[in-house]
Amino acid sequence: MLERLQPRAPDKIIGLMQAFRNDPRPDKIDLGVGVYRDAAGLTPVMRAVKAAERQLCDTQTTKSYTALTGDPAFLQAMAGLVLGAAAAPERLAMAAAPGGTGALHIALALVRLASPGARVFVPDPSWPNHAAIADALGLTRVPYRYYDAAAQTVDEAGMLADLAQAGPGDVVLVHGCCHNPTGADLTPPAWQRLGALLAGRGAPLLVDLAYQGFGDGPEADVAGLRAMAETLPEMLIAVSCSKTFGLYRERVGAVLALTGSPAARATAEANLAALNRTTYAFPPDHGARLAGMVLADPDLRADWAAELEAMRTRIARLRSTLAEALTAQSGSDRFGFLAGQKGLFSLLGATPDQVATLRETHGIYMIGDSRINLAGLSEQDVPRVVEAFLKVGL
Ligand code: LMR
Repeated sequence: MLERLQPRAPDKIIGLMQAFRNDPRPDKIDLGVGVYRDAAGLTPVMRAVKAAERQLCDTQTTKSYTALTGDPAFLQAMAGLVLGAAAAPERLAMAAAPGGTGALHIALALVRLASPGARVFVPDPSWPNHAAIADALGLTRVPYRYYDAAAQTVDEAGMLADLAQAGPGDVVLVHGCCHNPTGADLTPPAWQRLGALLAGRGAPLLVDLAYQGFGDGPEADVAGLRAMAETLPEMLIAVSCSKTFGLYRERVGAVLALTGSPAARATAEANLAALNRTTYAFPPDHGARLAGMVLADPDLRADWAAELEAMRTRIARLRSTLAEALTAQSGSDRFGFLAGQKGLFSLLGATPDQVATLRETHGIYMIGDSRINLAGLSEQDVPRVVEAFLKVGL
């Protein structure tokens, strides 16, 4: 039977991560996979997470099962971090999941249970795994315009026109902040207009929130989705703790489902529990417990917030440094947009050939659509990167 399986190309992002690891050149530069890196090029375990881990190691008395929906303290803490007071707890169904991907998978599986013919409206462009997960679940995908590549901003008019096609039983996927791959986010008024468009349509939002704290800060980054929680009758949020807590390999995430009523909340949560049960039974606990502990302890939380802020400002500084160097060397301000975009990613606007030359000749790795991870840069790499970008004709 297994010989009938079709060959599969590796995931573009993960395949590139592997190619980078296999490249023997000592001066290679990784602007590919979206992980935060510090000035030394490392992806650290955050201080507060490490402290919580020591505490947990000393005090945990059992590793017996939690609930199918995960550790309730973790879920409460995530609801507070993401939604604050914007959602009534009696309308909020929650379940932990393995990372943002697990949360997206379970959220879309919940949509499929509620609405088997659901169409998933996905921004163009988007993180490639969005399409892959929707396809794996057999859901129909509808791309909607999101990015104006010439203006390097959100194509709000295109987005609203395309989303006017969404109807009852559909779901609209949006990025909560730090849009991946463009770094172009909705402004507060654009969120309002999106909410007004969707309010009466019966097509809930599914917000992918994977970079809270990497844009304008942990509160500002969720202002848009909180406004939606106050406006829309239903909403799903897939939260990832990979970047915000540096917990990547621990696989920490959650689905927060805002339902229309307390009765609908109980049913949604029972369905989330059943989906977890048939997919992996219990979601991973270790990293989720750590995130919950960090958020519940005022000292750990303050230290985590300070470290997250330092990460955010480093990314913002790298954005300005790169934009300024490109402006100075190219004599034009065509790269100025890099400074104003949010989070780890921007699209450079390079062709696939230019991306290949940068990788093969200059040892600079980026995703094929010319997405760069700004945190992959170090200050001392900037002159070399700028020279290479201009050399390939950018
Ligand atoms: C990325 O976009 O590079 C990250 O979200 C990592 C991943 O899993 O693709």
